[in-house]
Amino acid sequence: MSAMLNLLFAVTTILFTISPFTHGYDPLDPNGEMIIKWDLLHSSPGHHTVLVKIENKQEYHHVENPGWKLSWHWVNKTVIWDMRGAETTEQGNCSAFASSETLPHCCLRRPTIVDLLPGAPFNMQVSNCCRGGVLTSMSQDRINHVSAFQMTLGSFPDDPGEFIMPYDFDIGVPGYTCGNATSVAPTKYITDKGRRKTQALATWEAECMYSQTKSSQSPKCCVSLSAFYYQNIVPCPTCSCGCPSSNCVKSGVVPSLLEQEHDPHEEASPVVQCTKHMCPIHIHWHVKVNYKKYWRVKITATNLNTMKNYSDWNLVVLHPNLSNVTKVFSFNYKPMTPYSKHINDTGVFWGLKYYNDVLIQAGETGNVQTEILLNKDMENFSFKNGWGFPRRILFNGDECVMPSPDDYPRLPKSASYSSRDSSFVTSVLCFLLLLV
Ligand SMILES: *[C@@H]1O[C@H](CO)[C@@H](O)[C@H](O)[C@H]1NC(C)=O
Ligand SMILES: *[C@@H]1O[C@H](CO)[C@@H](O)[C@H](O)[C@H]1NC(C)=O
Ligand SMILES: *[C@@H]1O[C@H](CO)[C@@H](O)[C@H](O)[C@H]1NC(C)=O
Ligand SMILES: *[C@@H]1O[C@H](CO)[C@@H](O)[C@H](O)[C@H]1NC(C)=O
Ligand SMILES: *[C@@H]1O[C@H](CO)[C@@H](O)[C@H](O)[C@H]1NC(C)=O
Ligand SMILES: *[C@@H]1O[C@H](CO)[C@@H](O)[C@H](O)[C@H]1NC(C)=O
Ligand SMILES: *[C@@H]1O[C@H](CO)[C@@H](O)[C@H](O)[C@H]1NC(C)=O
Ligand SMILES: *[C@@H]1O[C@H](CO)[C@@H](O)[C@H](O)[C@H]1NC(C)=O
Repeated sequence: MSAMLNLLFAVTTILFTISPFTHGYDPLDPNGEMIIKWDLLHSSPGHHTVLVKIENKQEYHHVENPGWKLSWHWVNKTVIWDMRGAETTEQGNCSAFASSETLPHCCLRRPTIVDLLPGAPFNMQVSNCCRGGVLTSMSQDRINHVSAFQMTLGSFPDDPGEFIMPYDFDIGVPGYTCGNATSVAPTKYITDKGRRKTQALATWEAECMYSQTKSSQSPKCCVSLSAFYYQNIVPCPTCSCGCPSSNCVKSGVVPSLLEQEHDPHEEASPVVQCTKHMCPIHIHWHVKVNYKKYWRVKITATNLNTMKNYSDWNLVVLHPNLSNVTKVFSFNYKPMTPYSKHINDTGVFWGLKYYNDVLIQAGETGNVQTEILLNKDMENFSFKNGWGFPRRILFNGDECVMPSPDDYPRLPKSASYSSRDSSFVTSVLCFLLLLV
């Protein structure tokens, strides 16, 4: 049995290492995708009602400010007469309807739809709307991972007016590619306290997949390591995310107003503080204390991007001993077991609401930290061969650059593990870290 488990573990480890996110398929989140679902609720020639839902089924990828921007291409000349819970960014040329009482909401062949902002007028809302296009990940929040809006559709005077599903979907978030919609079983709606079900006339779904390489050419984060038993900090590899150039700002300097000005509806390009690694996000893993029955790790995430607050951030950690996590301080934690409950080596960490769920821009508070306590396997416990360090770390679902295993902190020849010895070194290290 345990041989089988070892084999399984080895196989998944290989899987993880050879296919890191290049094909849009993520072995850590095999069912992770974004679904665009269309329910046709009413339909008569030239008049259709559709409910559209965007569901984020990913464990640790989320969509933050400025939110999704959904677009598609109508097959025939369809117009959107009315929209609830969202709006198109442009109305387009509606002169064909100049003689009608009111003009349509949108006459474009390729409309772009954005979510309404929180606090939209009540009569413009539908349920699950109006969060500015923000979608949480499944791990973090199973309520706010869905967005919805409703449309009343019609057609141009010269069109037969039958409903045809549009194509060429795009959710307007970097890194995602969407397929065409396919017909699926009609959605059922529960009414009368579950005693009766009604159903959509027809339902379609389009799937969107994330790829880190498509989202950005260079990595966005890196990892540095330290341990109480090792005198140095193993830094992020030089040029992890880019090489130092004139495009960075010195620590403590706020970018000029010119740089800060940008379209609030688009994500600002990062302006990072000057470091040797040039990453907007820096994760530090410190093996802090070795107790009799536990060992303690401190994880710090630092925002070096002066242009962005990362809200609802998350960290995915792969470490073979995560199944022995017994306590996590000041972060939320959830183990991830996508294949089998036996392979318990991956978990997702995220901030506590209203406390540290926003990683504030560099120059302000700029970092969040946790300490985790792991149970020790008394007989075989050892920090040898870098066991104390993670295999992989992902920030907001994007792979962080790790130091080379050759550089990992090493155990001194005659290691003494007493926690008293370690605390002195720890304080020195913490002090050094503050200076970095
Ligand atoms: C708007 O559409 C009408 C027909 O629907 C067309 O005749 C007119 O040229 C269009 N106007 C512009 C500015 O494209
Ligand atoms: C789509 O438009 C074309 C050209 O106007 C028309 O011939 C066709 O019947 C339309 N299809 C439907 C299903 O409305
Ligand atoms: C989606 O459908 C359109 C029109 O039928 C087609 O041109 C396009 O290649 C399809 N896209 C994909 C990704 O299959
Ligand atoms: C980040 O949050 C801080 C504090 O809430 C705010 O002052 C700052 O303007 C925000 N920065 C950005 C880029 O949104
Ligand atoms: C995996 O880890 C979690 C939390 O540490 C624990 O609740 C769960 O029982 C573990 N599962 C196994 C099979 O060890
Ligand atoms: C550590 O986790 C493994 C796998 O879940 C479990 O078999 C083992 O008993 C745990 N050890 C301790 C000391 O908690
Ligand atoms: C320690 O390791 C040995 C050899 O790998 C193994 O036989 C033994 O069961 C392990 N003990 C525990 C408590 O896991
Ligand atoms: C992690 O787990 C492995 C296998 O159970 C064990 O040999 C090792 O000593 C553990 N290391 C730490 C740092 O807990």
